[in-house]
Amino acid sequence: MFDLTNKVAIVTGASRGIGKSIATALSHSGTHVVCVSRNINDIKSVAGSLPNASAFACDVSSADGFDKLVNSTVSEHGKIDILVNNAGITRDGLIMRMKTEDWNTVLTINLTGAFNGIKAVARPMIKQKSGRIINISSVVGLTGNAGQANYAASKAGLIGLTKATAKEFASRGITVNCIAPGYISTDMTNKLSDAVKKELIKQIPLGRIGNPDDIAHMVLYLSSEEAGYITGQTMTVDGGMVMT
Ligand SMILES: NC(=O)c1ccc[n+]([C@@H]2O[C@H](COP(=O)([O-])OP(=O)(O)OC[C@H]3O[C@@H](n4cnc5c(N)ncnc54)[C@H](OP(=O)(O)O)[C@@H]3O)[C@@H](O)[C@H]2O)c1
Repeated sequence: MFDLTNKVAIVTGASRGIGKSIATALSHSGTHVVCVSRNINDIKSVAGSLPNASAFACDVSSADGFDKLVNSTVSEHGKIDILVNNAGITRDGLIMRMKTEDWNTVLTINLTGAFNGIKAVARPMIKQKSGRIINISSVVGLTGNAGQANYAASKAGLIGLTKATAKEFASRGITVNCIAPGYISTDMTNKLSDAVKKELIKQIPLGRIGNPDDIAHMVLYLSSEEAGYITGQTMTVDGGMVMT
């Protein structure tokens, strides 16, 4: 589709779901993908199934861990072209019952994780005068959702983080964008009951739950030279559920 030959990417949360599809699409487009998750066996098995990939176990909430991941990528491949901050979790509950620990864990992985990643790639990307940073937010970061105060705050935070860093890096040839997926079929959403899924589909003009490849295709575009005039934006990929 787009020429991503000989690029080098880091994709966090690549062991399953959306991250696995993103890593697969980039790898099949000629990019070397460093696949990242906490579980080394899971991530090794994904990287091993791809034509052009390696595995790295890292918890994105550790700034030190992310620095080591980026340093090792740059020393092995000489550069870092694309960072996809995709790792994310939910710990749902109404705010009156939400434990502080569940608030902190979601914010630390979903938002601080992306901050750690952006900070870690900033120096090599600035030196290269090029780079693509793509943060995976959610439509919930735009609309809010009862029972997801922690998740919605983290995903809205990613949109602000994207805009601020897009402005900081624009003069350095680095673009920073967000993708806000709607409801995508993965382990995260497969927990929903059939009745809830049926109700959700009624709210989606295109009439289906998305699949991880729908998001991966947007990542390919935002990673490409053709998307060089787009920065600080949130691309909603949701079958038309949220129209702004
Ligand atoms: N599915 C949807 O409908 C939907 C909608 C909107 C947005 N999103 C967003 O899209 C992203 C991917 O979602 P998904 O549905 O594919 O989720 P998923 O199937 O639950 O996969 C999450 C991935 O993130 C990794 N991960 C979790 N915590 C991590 C950490 N601290 N450090 C490194 N890796 C970590 C997991 O591996 P380990 O557990 O082994 O670390 C796994 O690879 C998330 O940011 C999510 O919020 C999803």
